[in-house]
Amino acid sequence: MSRTNLQIGDDGKLRHFLSTEGLTHGLLNEILDTAESFAGVTEQSVKKVPLLRGRTIVNLFFEASTRTRTTFELAAKRLSADVLNINVDASATVKGETLLDTLRNLEAMHVDMFVVRHCDSGTAHFIARHVQPHVSVINAGDGRHAHPTQAMLDMFTIRREKGADFGRLRVAIVGDIAHSRVARSQIHALNLLNTSEVRIVAPRTLLPFDVESLGVKVYHDLRDGLRDVDVVIMLRLQNERMKGAMLPSEHEYFQLYGLTEEKLSMASPDVTVMHPGPINRGVEIDSQVADGSRSVILQQVTYGIAVRMAVMSMAMQQRPSQENHG
Ligand code: NCD
Repeated sequence: MSRTNLQIGDDGKLRHFLSTEGLTHGLLNEILDTAESFAGVTEQSVKKVPLLRGRTIVNLFFEASTRTRTTFELAAKRLSADVLNINVDASATVKGETLLDTLRNLEAMHVDMFVVRHCDSGTAHFIARHVQPHVSVINAGDGRHAHPTQAMLDMFTIRREKGADFGRLRVAIVGDIAHSRVARSQIHALNLLNTSEVRIVAPRTLLPFDVESLGVKVYHDLRDGLRDVDVVIMLRLQNERMKGAMLPSEHEYFQLYGLTEEKLSMASPDVTVMHPGPINRGVEIDSQVADGSRSVILQQVTYGIAVRMAVMSMAMQQRPSQENHG
């Protein structure tokens, strides 16, 4: 295994999926193409394929989640894997067991894949460094660092809406960039896919410290930032990750950065409106826009299943099964 990139095996294939950063244009497109083939499966009346039959996948969620956990579970089931959901509150870590001990115990149950969500940045990487060679780790969100499957379902949504040529697209990501693992993963993915222009729109207090290195255009005024964009991605204020007040009030935030029909009229006429969810109506987005004809917020959730099927099946590709490891 390559030392420089934990995610990619020596054969160039996906081994773990921890962040979009450090992946290749080729691998991102392979994820999108594979997801395209699974999108058909999820629309059939019999939704299962036998690709991961006999494999065991553990959803290890140390942080609350609805969409992400359930779509991972559905994706695993549609690939015919056995799925275990580890309940965070009841987990042994609250009894003092270390993360590594929890991991070793689960590995002793012959698990093939961990899907991990944790409030600390770096947890999925940490686990990936410590699992046995046949086990894959998928990052389902770590702190404010990365949420790569969300970013890939967003890329898939954009490709479905706008076609495969990202080189023609202007994309604006609006809101709490500083605390958003989704924004980070999206920015890396959009840049890897050669998006013509990636903009971020945020008040200064919600910009990440390393914004210069991200390869984006920064705007502080929403109307300016939305001018002629093809896609706008709204983000939730991550209040749970803010230390102290970073904004005067939610009302004022909505006045300046809330997406309304009026502000959206600055964008291209066929603009696509996205949001990873959960949405806060009247804070970052007006209901008229969230439920309006330009919004694909619920399609994103549906596409999440096909994209997660793609990532899980790719990470398990040609992986020697547990039996070969004794
Ligand atoms: C995001 C997350 O958890 O990072 N949501 C999600 O996965 N659907 C974004 C958020 O919580 O705002």
